[in-house]
Amino acid sequence: GKVAVLMGGHSAERAVSLMSGQGVLAALLAQGVDAQAFDPAQRDLGDLKREGFDRAFINLHGRFGEDGTVQGALELMGIPYTGSGVLASSVAMDKIMTKRIWLAEGLSTPAWRQVDSVEQTIAALAELGAPMIVKPAREGSSLGLTKVTDAAQCAQAYALAARHDPEVLCEQFVAGDEVTCPVLGTGAQALALPVIHIVAPDGNYDYEHKYFTDDTHYIVPCDLPAGEEAVIQALVLKAFRTLGCRGWARADVMIDARTRQPYLLEINTSPGMTSHSLVPMSARATGMSYEQLCLQLLASASL
Ligand code: DAL
Ligand code: MG
Repeated sequence: GKVAVLMGGHSAERAVSLMSGQGVLAALLAQGVDAQAFDPAQRDLGDLKREGFDRAFINLHGRFGEDGTVQGALELMGIPYTGSGVLASSVAMDKIMTKRIWLAEGLSTPAWRQVDSVEQTIAALAELGAPMIVKPAREGSSLGLTKVTDAAQCAQAYALAARHDPEVLCEQFVAGDEVTCPVLGTGAQALALPVIHIVAPDGNYDYEHKYFTDDTHYIVPCDLPAGEEAVIQALVLKAFRTLGCRGWARADVMIDARTRQPYLLEINTSPGMTSHSLVPMSARATGMSYEQLCLQLLASASL
């Protein structure tokens, strides 16, 4: 039957989602899958049912797509979809809820404060120490994120984050290696893929570096000290299972340079599939092509 490749949507990551979706759509078409682009920002989601789509490949990023809302609509329509269900999508979209669950399960994540004002942001900096990350709780691709080292930067950092989400999070910055690790599969079949070590030129892996520049180094197979990759993979698999994720996801992790302790930052339940994106890069390191990855994800679509 017909596959809808969901892309675009209403979030701030719309442009990234369109790049992910176009990549996936082209790969599915090249493999002979009957697939069409579908943008929930331009069309009524109910058209999926009316027009006889029988599966959805979700490439929406951010709110109204990665956060359980679209997943809930697909559940109601009875259309199987790729990736996590309603609850895991919704929890993973919210970095504060995610941290609470991980901490309760003994998984390490940097110390944080939820803040509602500039004053609280300044107080958080005093408590957590500099540098500190100020970011929206429910956003992606580093949008709305500032690294602050000084109380004088807090007003602007808070205002920027709050423009993206009234829920703002201050997080202790972990100085060290930035890595990411995808998971493919569900339940007992879920497997961690190779870890990618991300080295941005100025240590600043921001929106531009994520999608547009070619000066970020992605080291895969990674160059971490012996044994560390397996530790990260086990941690990420636990992080995935603890939230009840399904199908695929990608967790972002910082490794403290001094203690070598890994800290989970977040898990993305609809990871990027652009030409610069990390899940395809990691899959490629195992010999899995972008097309094979897309077919495997599509085959995992469920309700
Ligand atoms: N939020 C972007 C799409 C990612 O995690 O890949
Ligand atoms: Mg993210």
